[in-house]
Amino acid sequence: INPGNVDIITSAVKPEHYPETGLKEIALSGRSNVGKSSFINAMCGRKGVARTSSKPGKTITLNFYNADNKFVFVDVPGYGYAKQSKSEREKWGAMIEGYLTKRETLTCVVQLVDLRHPPTADDISMYDFLKYYEMPVIVVATKADKIARGKIQKHISVIKKELEMEPEDQIFAFSSLDKRNLPEIMTALQKFV
Ligand code: GTP
Ligand code: MG
Repeated sequence: INPGNVDIITSAVKPEHYPETGLKEIALSGRSNVGKSSFINAMCGRKGVARTSSKPGKTITLNFYNADNKFVFVDVPGYGYAKQSKSEREKWGAMIEGYLTKRETLTCVVQLVDLRHPPTADDISMYDFLKYYEMPVIVVATKADKIARGKIQKHISVIKKELEMEPEDQIFAFSSLDKRNLPEIMTALQKFV
């Protein structure tokens, strides 16, 4: 991807506002603060394309990014954000569910989890939900820079096991600071665009 050619197309909540680009879409899903927006910036080779924040709940709409006219990244608002009210959570649920189950151009979901910890109940529900709808999932375990090299494989194994990952789904350790495994993740995505 040419970093100069990555830009936000639009933010949308309702299906009638989703962009019609003719390109395939890859969505990023994961807990609030796990690093979805940072992942998009790292993949696109440019900081500040997607807005990041140390405060969880920054991304509240579906944000569509044109990745060099090759495909579209869709930054999905994070789940598990405690400060959301019940009605906000319900609205979030309906929007995400609608997008993930009905969007014809969506071919793959990158589910981000925090490499430091076992998957949360929300992570497991999300993975199960995606598998129920037979969506291909690539799991990206973020913040790998915070784990000693020698422990990374062990953490990866725990995540695979707890998510009961299907053998055809791939998992990668990642860090938006050092961008490890970025080419491998890009190659895995290539199949879906
Ligand atoms: P929401 O939009 O709230 O759902 O969050 P998000 O998943 O988009 O997270 P975001 O990319 O905004 O990152 C949250 C915080 O984690 C920021 O302070 C980032 O700098 C930090 N962060 C993200 N990825 C990494 C990583 O790989 N390593 C480290 N050390 N910090 C990271
Ligand atoms: Mg975000």
